[in-house]
Amino acid sequence: MVRELKIVPIKNGTVIDHINNGLALEVLRIINVQSLDKDSTVSIAMHVRSAKHGWKDIVKVENMELSPRKVNAIALIAPTATISIIRDFKVQSKRNVDLPDRIVGVLKCPNPNCITHQPEPVESEFAVESRRPVVLACAYCERVVDDFRQHLA
Ligand SMILES: Nc1ncnc2c1ncn2[C@@H]1O[C@H](COP(=O)(O)OP(=O)(O)OP(=O)(O)O)[C@@H](O)[C@H]1O
Ligand SMILES: [Mg+2]
Ligand SMILES: [Zn+2]
Repeated sequence: MVRELKIVPIKNGTVIDHINNGLALEVLRIINVQSLDKDSTVSIAMHVRSAKHGWKDIVKVENMELSPRKVNAIALIAPTATISIIRDFKVQSKRNVDLPDRIVGVLKCPNPNCITHQPEPVESEFAVESRRPVVLACAYCERVVDDFRQHLA
């Protein structure tokens, strides 16, 4: 018999499932857990056996919905993730994350001379040049970025 410890269900909130194995903490950083109100429980499961393929991480956050910008950041680091909105204990909607053609405000340009770092900063913007592997180019200085995880804003 397989014994399983289930995460407690949430009444309202967001489930980020099918996160690539080991990346739950990166997802938490994007969500910015510190900014949530204190009675929102956050549940994390790492290295969970996935029925679909291999291993995965899961993050469940009460009373929070992700901004499109945060969804884009999650799509960058965890392209297999799904995002479910839970309302009154039921899955109200579920979708796969997907990387848009342009990513605004999620990453800092690695070029220190880029106009996006000037005293009157401009919001960063990157064009997605390739998806597998992910390669981005700054819309302002054209700097190509493939180590984007180092540059999350
Ligand atoms: N009330 C709830 N509280 C917490 N998590 C929930 C709740 N209801 C559903 N979930 C989670 O939301 C996600 C989507 O639910 P769904 O029922 O579609 O899952 P599923 O059938 O396992 O689908 P999938 O193929 O995405 O794994 C799953 O991760 C599920 O565990
Ligand atoms: Mg499932
Ligand atoms: Zn730049």
